Amino acid sequence: MTLDNLRIDMDRLWQSHMEMAKFGATPKGGVARLALTDLDRQARDLFVAWSKEAGCAVRIDRVGNIFVRREGTDPERPPVMTGSHLDTQPLGGKFDGIYGCLAGLEVIRTLNDAGVETAAPLEVVVWTDEEGARFGGGTIGSSVFCGVYDAETGLGKKDIDGITVGEALEAIGYAGAEPVGGVPVDSFFEAHIEQGPILEKEGLPVGVVMGAQGARYFTVTVDGEEGHAGTLPMTLRRDAMAGAARMIDALIGVAYKHEPHPVITVGQVKVRPNSRNTIPGQVIFSIDSRHPDNDTLAAIETEMRAVCTAIADKAGLGVTVDKISERTSIAFDKDCVDAVARAAKQLNLENMEIYSGAGHDACNMALIVPTGMIFVPCEGGVSHNELENARPEDLAAGCNVLMQVMVERAGAA
Ligand code: GLV
Ligand code: MN
Ligand code: MN
Repeated sequence: MTLDNLRIDMDRLWQSHMEMAKFGATPKGGVARLALTDLDRQARDLFVAWSKEAGCAVRIDRVGNIFVRREGTDPERPPVMTGSHLDTQPLGGKFDGIYGCLAGLEVIRTLNDAGVETAAPLEVVVWTDEEGARFGGGTIGSSVFCGVYDAETGLGKKDIDGITVGEALEAIGYAGAEPVGGVPVDSFFEAHIEQGPILEKEGLPVGVVMGAQGARYFTVTVDGEEGHAGTLPMTLRRDAMAGAARMIDALIGVAYKHEPHPVITVGQVKVRPNSRNTIPGQVIFSIDSRHPDNDTLAAIETEMRAVCTAIADKAGLGVTVDKISERTSIAFDKDCVDAVARAAKQLNLENMEIYSGAGHDACNMALIVPTGMIFVPCEGGVSHNELENARPEDLAAGCNVLMQVMVERAGAA
């Protein structure tokens, strides 16, 4: 089934983004809305209210994933699903994740207005903590849903203050009763800004996403000994910061040794006791490593571990390298990829095949159901940044593609 003349409402989609961006708005026009904070609750509450206004039923599972359902005419059919996340980076933008949720809702609003029914139900899901900025690891909701790890593991993940996902969900009223996953799903499509510069550079409104690179995340703990910054001679110190600094430099160096370069980022550092005039006794830092080839990713892990151990041994420091999550690179389902390309063509939207450098909930869904993604350009390729921006017409183009593929997949009523 195709809907040749039906188009989503570009202004409504844009206005919905602007409304959502009020929760955690930053002075530079970005959004600071960490997962499962009160700001996240406010964004979730608005999304749920809009979904109910659109006549949908809303379910919430034990890890706080929100499922918004528009019934189909055939009760036997599993849902065609879309969605993404409403949480942001500590200094994030208005579109990363939010677009995928609001595009799904806009599809439902448009079909409602036009009185179009589908055979299979349509569902929009808001996944819990995709970003990983608060609890580490990221894609917690979809990881549990897809069986990457169990609900207890997801609920037990802690933020830097020791608050668990389970406690944070209770605090904001999103600890649902539904078991997580284990339900049939027809397919999953996620619309997302590209978060890179390629589509804008090529002047194309739509990217047909072929797959996504793999990632491994680590937490490194370097143990030394506290001491007086003024009195302890340099030769007698076991300075955890001095060791961590050498490790970080060497770790970034690992990325440059491989071609094509993997990407390695140390974005979080915690120093104990964090005092100007005490030699640091412990430094804890994060590593985010990514590459499209899983073997290279494994080789990088071995090298990174060796680098940390060698530096620690030489400096008389302790070091542990804990892997906190791992995602293999993913190729999306051929039928879903083809459906996205076909829809873009039908809509006369110029497009190209593209790979995702970022991780997405769709990467987990690809492990269990046919999955595809639709990218739209963002200004300057900027993302994970308050200045993240996208054009209303590009957001609308991706949303129209999403509507076509979902309706085609769900079938005529
Ligand atoms: C998600 O934001 C990622 O880190 O790729
Ligand atoms: Mn995202
Ligand atoms: Mn992100």
